[in-house]
Amino acid sequence: MKAAVLEGVGQPVRLQDVSMPIAGKGEAVVKLSAAALNHRDVWIQKGQYAGLKFPIVLGSDGAGAVESVGDGVDKMWLGKNVVVNPSVSWGESEKTQAKAFKILGLPDDGTFAELVKIPAANLAEKPEHLSFVEAAALPLAGLTAYRALFSRAKLQAGETVLITGIGGGVALFGLQFALAQGATVFVTSGSDEKLSKAKALGAAGGVNYKQPDWAKELQAQAGGFDVILDSAGGEGFGNLINLAAAGGRIVFVGATAGNPPNLDMRKIFWKQLSLLGSTMGSPNDFNAMMTFVSEKKIMPVVDAVLPLTDAEAALRRMENAAQFGKIVLSIS
Ligand SMILES: NC(=O)c1ccc[n+]([C@@H]2O[C@H](COP(=O)([O-])OP(=O)(O)OC[C@H]3O[C@@H](n4cnc5c(N)ncnc54)[C@H](OP(=O)(O)O)[C@@H]3O)[C@@H](O)[C@H]2O)c1
Repeated sequence: MKAAVLEGVGQPVRLQDVSMPIAGKGEAVVKLSAAALNHRDVWIQKGQYAGLKFPIVLGSDGAGAVESVGDGVDKMWLGKNVVVNPSVSWGESEKTQAKAFKILGLPDDGTFAELVKIPAANLAEKPEHLSFVEAAALPLAGLTAYRALFSRAKLQAGETVLITGIGGGVALFGLQFALAQGATVFVTSGSDEKLSKAKALGAAGGVNYKQPDWAKELQAQAGGFDVILDSAGGEGFGNLINLAAAGGRIVFVGATAGNPPNLDMRKIFWKQLSLLGSTMGSPNDFNAMMTFVSEKKIMPVVDAVLPLTDAEAALRRMENAAQFGKIVLSIS
């Protein structure tokens, strides 16, 4: 089969012939119609990710049809249209992932390929209202946004939410999920064009974080925030402490801009703030996210669809933060 293979740090991914995966006990092989990128794929290519191994087929997100199943797997899955849950071996606890936890696409070969092998427990039926391209855009970013907002920050209808860096995959699902829950949502972005697009999706307002007074302007627009979803960290994180309302929850899933140099401890305790870390999600989070998406008829925002042969160009688009929404690879 064909797959986009990464041979080492800093190398471009190249389409190659690789051996076909065979479903072992408890596993399924999915013939992929589409796969989607996450920033994780760029971090791995740049060597900025734990547990690197090469060669590797990148890709955590995919949608397609079940081609074969191994021993012990219900044959009813054969031929079914599915999405792949990339959160593998989460374990029993809702609080945190087990030691055996891994994300599809490193250490195991991922979805930038014609076929992918996953545990059958990680299959989910494709929501009927989504195409394969839209369904492939959903799993990793949707799961991460869902757990962060609902399982961790306990977002309620009527609350005011801030989502930073709205061009990002996790951020955009955060916007769509929070709106569907009945929250009022403000956003930040480094691009005025992306701010306009977010407002068209339902954001109540937003500011460009590249302007020096962005936090003051946001406070003037919105007052304080009950929930803030961030994946950037860095210098801007200190401003989030100021922007949070008393009793607010700041949930973060990434550190794209590095560690915050300037956390004001006194403000955090005086305002009774909760700082919540979150990563991916449990099988229950995934199932709840899929149900939420189907019930609320949420349509993932797809930035671009490129053929699998252009996987390298797709990675560069993501690295340059050129996208608004998910970058998807069409496979067959
Ligand atoms: N813990 C987890 O389970 C988990 C899961 C998924 C992702 N992540 C992490 O979360 C981050 C985002 O991932 P993704 O896949 O959504 O990436 P992505 O689609 O590439 O989004 C990145 C976005 O971050 C925004 N950004 C960059 N610098 C920023 C800054 N200084 N302040 C505010 N926003 C900034 C940009 O938004 P604008 O273009 O609007 O400026 C950019 O589009 C990555 O660090 C990733 O590793 C973690």
